[in-house]
Amino acid sequence: MTATCNSSAREFSPIEYSDGVLRMIDQRLLPGEEVWLEYTDFRAVAEAIRTMVVRGATAIGVAAAYGAWFGARDIEAEDFAGFWTKFEEVCDLLAATRPTAVNLFWALERVKSFVRANDNQSVVNLKIGLEYEAIAIAAEDIRTNRAMGKNGAPLLPDGARVLTHCNAGALATGGYGTALGVIRAAVAAGKKIAVIADETRPWPQGARLTAWELQRDGIPVTLICDNMAGYLMSRGEIDCCIVGADRIAANGDVANKIGTYTVAVLAKEHGIPFYVAAPLSTIDMSLPDGSHIPIEERGAAEVTHSGDRQLAPEGIAVRNPAFDITPARLVTAIVTEQGVAKGDLAAGLRALAGQGR
Ligand code: MRU
Repeated sequence: MTATCNSSAREFSPIEYSDGVLRMIDQRLLPGEEVWLEYTDFRAVAEAIRTMVVRGATAIGVAAAYGAWFGARDIEAEDFAGFWTKFEEVCDLLAATRPTAVNLFWALERVKSFVRANDNQSVVNLKIGLEYEAIAIAAEDIRTNRAMGKNGAPLLPDGARVLTHCNAGALATGGYGTALGVIRAAVAAGKKIAVIADETRPWPQGARLTAWELQRDGIPVTLICDNMAGYLMSRGEIDCCIVGADRIAANGDVANKIGTYTVAVLAKEHGIPFYVAAPLSTIDMSLPDGSHIPIEERGAAEVTHSGDRQLAPEGIAVRNPAFDITPARLVTAIVTEQGVAKGDLAAGLRALAGQGR
């Protein structure tokens, strides 16, 4: 793995791939430093996902697909059975990095299905096919986000002041973004949109990443601490909320960054629409409701410290769940690439997922 700098002006993607090398912007260092790290090994890609060099539901799916290709490339096996055993080990290691965002498992299942469906092919051909599969997953992610943007943009009125939580932008995806993709599409359609970005403690994705990428695009953005959203809502300063998702259960319950549930409760109290933008690959139809979604617990230092500075007394007990569940009843609509589910979210998601097949 090596580090380089890059200040390209073309459409931004946090994950770039060419000639067998994966490059990812180190999201831990933004906005202070724009450092790109290079990867050619699946174990290093797994570590990058675990340590949040790359983060965001679909971005980690894309990274894992490239990781699977690197793992496959290095497998020494003569026949399908030998290849499959080792390939499963590669995928298992990549899957063990983060538990909540289903896109990671979706991407790994997709590359495994590709291998299973081609069990009559030579090992050389399987390796070639897996590289194409990873490239396709990355390209589809951007297309999907653009389609979501088109479907979701009509929900945002001209002049809207839109609250978002965490980072559901280009940085969280292969490019363009989910919730920020909807905002980008509304802006591209000529609407005047002002974004209010929650800081998103304890790993301030809002302050560091959402603020960085919207400012870079020239989209007006105002940063607030997480505990300020209710006050702004009570003063009529927020017209709607839009967030991304890490996993959505069949009934429409939404797992997203910790604090999302609080925003949704506040939105309900103030009669403000609460929208979620997520691709069909984020919908986990195997889970009846959000109580079954595994929630990642992260280290105490993220809560006790701000950067290197210790905020809390030594030895204090800490909880650090990284995600929470917003019940479907608090969600006004879910925007997907196939259309928008509203009202009966369970029925809406079933219909949209059916069209996506
Ligand atoms: O812990 P993170 O930064 O990976 O969490 C990311 C989020 O919660 C995003 O809101 C989510 O992935 C939706 S955007 C694809």
